[in-house]
Amino acid sequence: MKVPLKVRILVIDDDAVAGEFLQEALSRAGHGVDALTSARAALERDLTRYDLLLSDIRMPDIDGLQFLRQVREKWPALPVILMTAFGSLETTMEALRLGAWDYISKPFSPDAIRAMVRKVLEVRELQQRRLHAQPAAPGDPQLIGSSTTMVDFYKQLARVADAWASVLIEGESGTGKELTARSLHRLSARQDKPFIVVHCGAIPDNLLESELFGYERGAFTGADHTHPGLIESAEGGTVFLDEITEMSSALQGKLLRFMQDGETRRLGGNDVRHAAVRVVAAANRDIDQAAREGRFRSDLLYRFVVRLSVPPLRERKEDLPQLVESLLKKLGYADVRVSNEAMERFMGYDWPGNVRELENVLQQTLLLSPFLVILPENLPDKLRVPREVDGQDLTPLEGAERGQILQALNTASWNLSRAAQILGIDRKTLRTKIDRYGLIRPGQAAS
Ligand SMILES: Nc1ncnc2c1ncn2[C@@H]1O[C@H](COP(=O)(O)OP(=O)(O)OP(=O)(O)O)[C@@H](O)[C@H]1O
Ligand SMILES: [Mg+2]
Repeated sequence: MKVPLKVRILVIDDDAVAGEFLQEALSRAGHGVDALTSARAALERDLTRYDLLLSDIRMPDIDGLQFLRQVREKWPALPVILMTAFGSLETTMEALRLGAWDYISKPFSPDAIRAMVRKVLEVRELQQRRLHAQPAAPGDPQLIGSSTTMVDFYKQLARVADAWASVLIEGESGTGKELTARSLHRLSARQDKPFIVVHCGAIPDNLLESELFGYERGAFTGADHTHPGLIESAEGGTVFLDEITEMSSALQGKLLRFMQDGETRRLGGNDVRHAAVRVVAAANRDIDQAAREGRFRSDLLYRFVVRLSVPPLRERKEDLPQLVESLLKKLGYADVRVSNEAMERFMGYDWPGNVRELENVLQQTLLLSPFLVILPENLPDKLRVPREVDGQDLTPLEGAERGQILQALNTASWNLSRAAQILGIDRKTLRTKIDRYGLIRPGQAAS
């Protein structure tokens, strides 16, 4: 951890010799040290000049505990270490209760006090960094979510981020494939190099080829100047090919050549160039199926050594509260809250459009409701139906119980008294559980 090399320390000890000893020991560690023989004199100073105070406890005018109390009032963030030759349980407790950062009993070695100073400063540095932590800048969004599903995903991501291997990111629409690609780049040693996004599905094929590989002047009508390709311009960095399945077979061949030996050739040019660029691609259609059906070249597919699959939102619904909070902040509504009932509806919905859909729903809701709390009635229609219990969101134990109950009910042909008897519970409890688990007698529509 980076601790400022030179920090300013004020030592207060009525024993001038002890003060000099400390001044000497700490100056040797590179710190700037002043020493005073009275706490009163210290309180007359502007103590913001110091990073740390070291004070004796027993002193004639103002004692160390009293001094600590006053410092905590005026400069609450300033760390104070107390020292005493008369350590007792009572003074130790009092010192800590008053908010001393640490407590050391005399006599101590120069090493001991240097180590203690270092530790205090490390902790403080850490706290300050937390305090000044900025929310992610708009241009640098982060993947949100701390469910086990997401953490497993982060692990895979972290493992491959710094390799050159080509990565294929698969996932339903709106799951965060592009965000994943950006994160891969940001976590790699290439983070200062270009990250270039190419939306293969949005550009006509011939244009895509000239964009990716560039062209020489005169290569085609209208090519009145030389144009380096995006791959060349990404030198040292990452090129992100979104919707790679949309590429024509011919272009796939050209990309394969580049991925095999790093060679690119501009349209209408003869020079073979080399580019060291990492290829990251995304696909939201089943790419294996496309390969089987001959719509995607399998030799190209095999060039993607690493495949990451971004989990859909319905498999990590426990991330919803955190996602909602961060999306509200991102949309500029940090002060808006989602009521528990509305959050229930979020939890009960399957989010086929994943995080992008969640973002849209929030946007739409915010436009329609001017309140600081989002209620179920403010939500779009698709979310207004209360959640249906279908066994998907139960814990394994609840799931097992639900299964047992259903089995007993079927055995007893839905005669509740008999089913209750089989289960060894009373009829009323059974009724409650039937409601709780949303069990419905076959052939009987939900009321
Ligand atoms: N885990 C996440 N945490 C925070 N925001 C996310 C997350 N996943 C996606 N988003 C946000 O959701 C939106 C969609 O993400 P992104 O464009 O990366 O998805 P995608 O998989 O590329 O979608 P598509 O298939 O539609 O291209 C973006 O605004 C993105 O910032
Ligand atoms: Mg995308």
